[in-house]
Amino acid sequence: MPSINDSKCILIVGSTAGLGRSLALGILALPSKPTVIVCGRRKERLDELVAAHGGDGRLKAVQLDVATDRASLKASVEDIVKQYPELDAIMLSSGIQHIYNFSKPETIDLDNIASELTVNYISIVSMITFFLPHLIKIGETRPSFIYTISSGLAVVPSPIVANYSATKAAIHSLSLSLNVQLKDQNVHVVEILPPLVESELHDHQGKSEVYSKFWMSLEEFTKATMECLERGDAQVPIGAIAGSYAKYETGKLDSVAQMRAAQLKAMEGK
Ligand SMILES: NC(=O)c1ccc[n+]([C@@H]2O[C@H](COP(=O)([O-])OP(=O)(O)OC[C@H]3O[C@@H](n4cnc5c(N)ncnc54)[C@H](OP(=O)(O)O)[C@@H]3O)[C@@H](O)[C@H]2O)c1
Repeated sequence: MPSINDSKCILIVGSTAGLGRSLALGILALPSKPTVIVCGRRKERLDELVAAHGGDGRLKAVQLDVATDRASLKASVEDIVKQYPELDAIMLSSGIQHIYNFSKPETIDLDNIASELTVNYISIVSMITFFLPHLIKIGETRPSFIYTISSGLAVVPSPIVANYSATKAAIHSLSLSLNVQLKDQNVHVVEILPPLVESELHDHQGKSEVYSKFWMSLEEFTKATMECLERGDAQVPIGAIAGSYAKYETGKLDSVAQMRAAQLKAMEGK
C-alpha cells in the first residue's frame, strides 16, 4: 500500500499555522527524509519555519495566497512544479471558518460565505486540477499523492458554522470521487477528517479560549494522523470522528468504487 513514506517531495498548502504546520514538521521528521515545502500567505511565518527547522536543506518555502484569480493560481502551481520537478505529493490544509446565525438572516455576510467557499473548496479543486497533469506523470513511474483535509463536520455538520460544514462536505465528496477516479493512474487520494484541534482557526471568532478546554492537542492529532498516513489509509478520521465516521460513512468508499466500475462498464458497451 503506497504511503507517505513513499513521498520524496511534498507541498503543504496552509502550513504557516495549525494542522498544516504540525503535519509538515511530522513529515519532515520521517526516516524517508522527504523534501517538505511549506506554503501560505505569511512570509514571516515561512521564514521562521525554515530558520528553525531547515538546517539540512530539506525544508523549503513558497508564499502563496490561494484566494487569488484562477490564472494567477495556475501560474503559481506551474512555477512550483518547475522549481520542484520531484514533487510527488500535495497536502491541502488552507482553510477559514466563519460563524453564522441564519435565524437572523440580516446578519449573514454573503461576502464571507463566498470567501469561505473560495478558500475551502474552489481553490482546493482548482489546485488539484492544476497539479494533476504533473502528479499523473509522476504516477507513471512511482506513486503520487493528494492529501485533502476535510473535517468531522463534513459528516455531521455544526449548525453554528453551517457554510464551513458545507464546504467540508464538498471536500469529502470530492475526495471520495477522486480516490476512485485517480487510482488507476497511481495517484492516491487521502482524506483527513480532523476533530476539533488546537489551532488558530477560531482566533478571529474569539472562541479559542472556550474551545481550548476540549480540543485535541496538536501533538496528539499529529501523532494519530501520521500513524494513519504511514499505514497508507485512504480515509483518516481522527479521535472522536471515528464514531460518526463508522456510523455514517462505513462502506461509502466501496459504494463509490462500485458506481465508478458500473459507469466504466456502461461506457465500454457504447
Ligand atoms: N482546527 C480544527 O479544529 C479543524 C478541524 C477540522 C478541520 N480543520 C481544517 O484543517 C485545516 C487547517 O486549519 P487549522 O485549524 O490548522 O487553521 P489555522 O491554524 O488557522 O491555519 C490555517 C492555515 O491556512 C492558511 N490559509 C488561510 N487562508 C489562506 C489563503 N487565502 N491562502 C493560503 N493559505 C491560507 C493559513 O496561512 P496564512 O494565513 O499564512 O495564509 C494557515 O497556514 C483547514 O482546512 C481546516 O478547515 C481544522
